[in-house]
Amino acid sequence: MTQLTRIRDAKDHVNETVTIGAWLTDKRSSGKIAFLQLRDGSAFFQGVVVKNAVSEDTFALAKSLRQETSMLITGEIHEDSRSHFGYEIEVKDIKVLGESEDYPITPKEHGIEFLLDHRHLWLRSKRQFAIQQIRNRMIQATYQFFDQEGFIKMDAPILTGTAPEGTTELFETDYFDTPAYLSQSGQLYAEAGAMAYGKVYTFGPVFRAEKSKTRRHLTEFWMIEPEMAFMHQAESLEVQERYIAFLVQAVIDHCEYELHLLDRDVDQLRKYTKLPYPRISYDQAIDMLQKANFEVKWGDDFGSPEETYLSDQFEQPVFVLNYPKSIKPFYMLPDPDRDDVYVCADLLAPEGYGEIIGGSEREVDYDKLQAEMEKKGLDQSAYQWYLDLRQYGSVPHAGFGLGLERAITWICHLDHLRETIPFPRMLNRLRP
Ligand code: 4AD
Ligand code: MG
Repeated sequence: MTQLTRIRDAKDHVNETVTIGAWLTDKRSSGKIAFLQLRDGSAFFQGVVVKNAVSEDTFALAKSLRQETSMLITGEIHEDSRSHFGYEIEVKDIKVLGESEDYPITPKEHGIEFLLDHRHLWLRSKRQFAIQQIRNRMIQATYQFFDQEGFIKMDAPILTGTAPEGTTELFETDYFDTPAYLSQSGQLYAEAGAMAYGKVYTFGPVFRAEKSKTRRHLTEFWMIEPEMAFMHQAESLEVQERYIAFLVQAVIDHCEYELHLLDRDVDQLRKYTKLPYPRISYDQAIDMLQKANFEVKWGDDFGSPEETYLSDQFEQPVFVLNYPKSIKPFYMLPDPDRDDVYVCADLLAPEGYGEIIGGSEREVDYDKLQAEMEKKGLDQSAYQWYLDLRQYGSVPHAGFGLGLERAITWICHLDHLRETIPFPRMLNRLRP
């Protein structure tokens, strides 16, 4: 099967006879012509089978094909000005590889639980294809961006003995008779990496036992966590906005077809490539929310409605700076000018999507960090290695974490992040 042509490459084969490997997604036929909707994993297009142009057997076969039958199709590629894709194949021969009967996901509408139960098949649909292609592009762009900015990718462990983002959302497992946790964040390891190699990023799955059923929470998601030595928060914010603009631009440049399949407004996306992004303080955010009659007071954390409201007020992603200490983790650097907030920021995505990045400058002083850990009741013996980083050549450093699925949800303009990961893990969902 080495000589197969990919549908995506149809433009390079106009008026040539080629063979493609494809599945049938839908079909329409009359006495004289059959239209086969085809997909091969690279794109979707139409196969036209004209009765007079093929053998009787081939025409009969075309008319009998069922949804998701797999086959080798030989035919001639033509331009097709009626479809957005722009090409179709005039079928000459069909060889069935795998029959398919009673495919459960028909072109009609299905409920979300049904679709999630059939996720292994649902992935084949046009919309899911588009989302996964965009996910892939954002992953590739991530490697490219950090490589060109002089970072190295450093893999953090997934089985850990420490819990950087708080102990309430931990998945615990048994590790040869001692408790271990599935990593909630690679950050502490990234900090060790930054002290070793200057600029690093981790990119891996992280786990949070989120009991909340929201459109923004998975229990397993992928996070990109850059960490930079000799860097203060202001400069980290610049890295963050450059990175986000780069991701958006990469999707615009490489995923025109997928954005069209999702009906995504590309002009809207283009606005997010303009820098800088606005910055407001947590104090200002509280003010804005109170003026809009939200029942929040200084010191409260923001939930989805608050973040949605705030992000809706801006045309671009917006940084909310310097949150109260009580609602953020122990490792952040306190604001040198006031003792109630950290030097930190969340980046809220526009169009009501809320937080996609959380980050901060880190505490660099051994004694202060130790005191902070004590205050938050952390077991110091588990963190001695982390304190060591302040013992041996501590330097100002900052970092952040982007939730990949949150970013995809926003860039694809989806209602819920469950479609952005191939096999979502949520409360009540561990299969397929
Ligand atoms: O704000 P968070 O908790 O920050 C950290 O984990 C830091 N250690 C990052 C760092 O400074 N290195 O999480 C970072 C991002 C959030 O902004 C959000 O995009 C995503 O991770 N996130 C989730 N995504 C999906 N499901 C969940 N349950 C998520 N929780 C956080
Ligand atoms: Mg956060």
